[in-house]
Amino acid sequence: MVAVAVGLTGSAVIAADADHGAELAKRWCATCHVVDSDQKRASADVLPFATIARKPDFSPEKLAFFLLDRHPKMPNFPLSRAEAADIAAYVASFRN
Ligand code: HEC
Repeated sequence: MVAVAVGLTGSAVIAADADHGAELAKRWCATCHVVDSDQKRASADVLPFATIARKPDFSPEKLAFFLLDRHPKMPNFPLSRAEAADIAAYVASFRN
């Protein structure tokens, strides 16, 4: 696995592992969000990752921070900083 260095302040370089992020997303996010293009069903009215990634204010740093912070409408996940960064890198890959 790739070593990860995350700074949540925005200026740091992220060396995150999007493949690992995809696994984590399937485990932790897929019950509510559509996390890849093969997935057909999730909760209605929860944004698919592909949509989240294309929002104008999206950034992987913000997403990683969001995952580690409290978010009222989602469960709090037992993610490490590295795992949050991996998921953020995976979501960011939908912008391509
Ligand atoms: C229990 C259901 C549930 C799970 C599991 C869940 N989410 Fe969410 N998520 C939501 C809901 C509901 C919203 C909408 C929140 C709102 O409207 O404020 C949301 C919103 C978001 C947003 C913000 C979208 C925006 O408005 O900009 C992001 C990013 C996000 N989720 C990422 C994730 C990630 C990554 C995971 C897995 C680690 C995850 N979510 C797991 C229910 C969930």
